[in-house]
Amino acid sequence: MKKPRVLVADDKDTILGLFGRILSDKFDVVTATDGQRALALALNDDFDVVVSDIRMPGADGFTVLREIKGAKPEVEVVLMTAFSSVQKAVEAMKEGAYDYLAKPFDPDEALMTIERAAERKRLREQARNLSAVVGNISRFDRLVGKSSAMQQLFELLKRAAAGEATVLIAGESGTGKELAARAVHSQSPRRAGRFVAVNCGAIPESLIESELFGHVRGAFTGAIGDRRGLFEEADGGTLLLDEVGELPLPMQVKLTRALQEHAIRRVGESQERRVSVRVIAATNVDLKAAVASGRFREDLFYRLNVFPVRLPPLRERREDIPVLAAHFLERHRGRYGGSVEGFSPDALSALVRYEWPGNVRELENAVERALAVVDGPRIPIEALPEEIATHARPRLAPDLGRLTYREVVDIARDRVSREYLVALMREFEGSVTHAAERAGMERETLHRLLKRYGLRSDEFKPGR
Ligand SMILES: Nc1ncnc2c1ncn2[C@@H]1O[C@H](COP(=O)(O)OP(=O)(O)OP(=O)(O)O)[C@@H](O)[C@H]1O
Ligand SMILES: [Mg+2]
Repeated sequence: MKKPRVLVADDKDTILGLFGRILSDKFDVVTATDGQRALALALNDDFDVVVSDIRMPGADGFTVLREIKGAKPEVEVVLMTAFSSVQKAVEAMKEGAYDYLAKPFDPDEALMTIERAAERKRLREQARNLSAVVGNISRFDRLVGKSSAMQQLFELLKRAAAGEATVLIAGESGTGKELAARAVHSQSPRRAGRFVAVNCGAIPESLIESELFGHVRGAFTGAIGDRRGLFEEADGGTLLLDEVGELPLPMQVKLTRALQEHAIRRVGESQERRVSVRVIAATNVDLKAAVASGRFREDLFYRLNVFPVRLPPLRERREDIPVLAAHFLERHRGRYGGSVEGFSPDALSALVRYEWPGNVRELENAVERALAVVDGPRIPIEALPEEIATHARPRLAPDLGRLTYREVVDIARDRVSREYLVALMREFEGSVTHAAERAGMERETLHRLLKRYGLRSDEFKPGR
């Protein structure tokens, strides 16, 4: 992948040299020693991030910021300033700077800030190009995904579809196992036949055999007539045995036999009936482990596992998150007025960072929920469930031993958490003046924040 490009403007060679060392591994770095040169470079060449000192000969950092934002709003600008004039930098952020670095800064922090700025630029572009992305999404049948893991999966499913082998699909809940099974069926020569899905875990044990194989009248109490089972229903087509690990052992024996003989016997009948069914099994438990512990028959495992397919969890293929989010947006927005076009960069970044224990299903639900509450053109971070939204921003460390500029920024942006305020007030024993000073904000701001969270400074006074 191409390295993101960063322009660093400062009149001190030491600073330029420092940035060269910090950034050159991950970025393509260009330097400028005054504001005029920086502007000329920034406007005539393509950079992802511009890092500029505020006080410089030629043009100061504010001019650089305004000119760049006016001509190329997509470029992210980070300003540098002395710690004592942090207030200025906060002003700069109101004018569109992404962030600022207070000198002297920690090189790791500088690197992180610039990485975040570059990431935001990338996400912004992605958000802007959503419709384009949707236009050339990679898909296989109804499965969407552009990660190499999904591309490989699509190849595998294509091969599975071409043959007749039993397919065993493994994967966490919500990863698309059922969709994969449908894809194999609908791309296979059996596509004219039926696709029948059954959840083995959802049928009472006493009914499973008749459900799968059917029964004849009087076979058991309640069997008032002859009935075909799902194997016969799927004759000529495909049968998905979902949650196959839930099958009771005696049924596993019968299933093994049916797979071997390509024949079934209805309950209460001695005659065998031949069926032509392609079986696909799916599981979200580790069947090998189930075999080892005696809960799953080894012979059945090998019968099913002829063509193993693993669906990777979403957190292992984060490249798919933006395309899937766009896909679900496209798919569901019609139901909610249809005016939403994409996600805010913050929202997209939170979606990409979240762990997704519920995988694609959870993502689909989050997008649908957001569509239900949003009416603007972009889904803002606030429309996402809290557990996802918190992934958009770095967490504030309640440890106040060292207040980072980042915390100051968050405070300045009113993005401070309740825990942080509590820790701050505890440390300064309820003194708003000292706490505000330490946090680098006005006393009034701190008062306002405390009030917003329902905190009272005297609660933190010693002896209470
Ligand atoms: N790659 C994908 N592209 C598009 N939609 C997907 C994809 N993967 C999953 N989905 C959607 O996510 C939801 C869950 O998928 P599916 O039911 O196939 O998962 P599953 O693995 O069978 O889950 P479970 O184990 O809980 O039964 C469905 O609405 C499905 O349409
Ligand atoms: Mg399923």
